[in-house]
Amino acid sequence: MLELKHISYRVSTPEGELDILRDINLTIPDRELAVFTGPNGGGKTTLAKIIMGLARPTSGQVVYNGEDITELDITERSRRGISYGFQQPPRFKGITVQDLLRLAAGGEKLSKDRCCNYLTQVGLCANDYLDREVDASLSGGEVKRIEIATVLARGGEFMIFDEPEAGIDLWSFARLTETFEALHRQKSATMVIISHQERIIRLADEIIVVAGGEIAHRGGTEEIFPLILADTLGSCPVIGRKEAR
Ligand SMILES: Nc1ncnc2c1ncn2[C@@H]1O[C@H](COP(=O)(O)OP(=O)(O)OP(=O)(O)O)[C@@H](O)[C@H]1O
Ligand SMILES: [Mg+2]
Repeated sequence: MLELKHISYRVSTPEGELDILRDINLTIPDRELAVFTGPNGGGKTTLAKIIMGLARPTSGQVVYNGEDITELDITERSRRGISYGFQQPPRFKGITVQDLLRLAAGGEKLSKDRCCNYLTQVGLCANDYLDREVDASLSGGEVKRIEIATVLARGGEFMIFDEPEAGIDLWSFARLTETFEALHRQKSATMVIISHQERIIRLADEIIVVAGGEIAHRGGTEEIFPLILADTLGSCPVIGRKEAR
């Protein structure tokens, strides 16, 4: 179980201090599929980075399976089974897709078949990619899908996917949605998927709407969808919130 307790994140900007997240309290039970959604700039990626240890909260605690992991770095959190697929994945010149998948799997001797299987799960034809370098020659959608395959290869207990749909074509997106659905059915991991896509949001056990650095709504699909629709049909949620401050 993951618990976020009174998480705040403040940065210094030339204009002064800026609150990116304010007093976030959230519990994600084991094997739940939670979807974070909400307007651009609402704080979803920042929250994911705080869970992964890529950003240190200004105040508050991150507790994982009863252990306070707030001060642990990304490597230590990774050892505890937490993994994160970046919204904008980095590229690694000189490293092939196969190397990257093996590294993700902890250096274990991942067979070619297993590597192929992970790539198939994200809609890539393995033969075309295993020996390609993860460099600038890959398209945005390809690099994004390879990143998701590395999270799958890591096989963590707590997986975070940051906008897995970004830049991905309709056919691969359908395949990816099936992969998330199957993973969730197997109940082998807790998943947080940050998404703006209705098909992914509908897979959620719980939808968490992050807006203006706060949790604006949280609950099941039936309860939250009408609220999201009301939010988006009204005035611009971002501008509205800023004016309200
Ligand atoms: N280090 C920083 N300095 C200044 N502003 C920051 C910093 N980090 C994040 N922000 C701002 O905090 C807000 C939240 O960013 P975040 O990336 O978490 O949003 P998001 O909900 O993931 O948005 P999107 O849907 O566009 O991916 C944004 O307005 C962003 O510009
Ligand atoms: Mg984001």
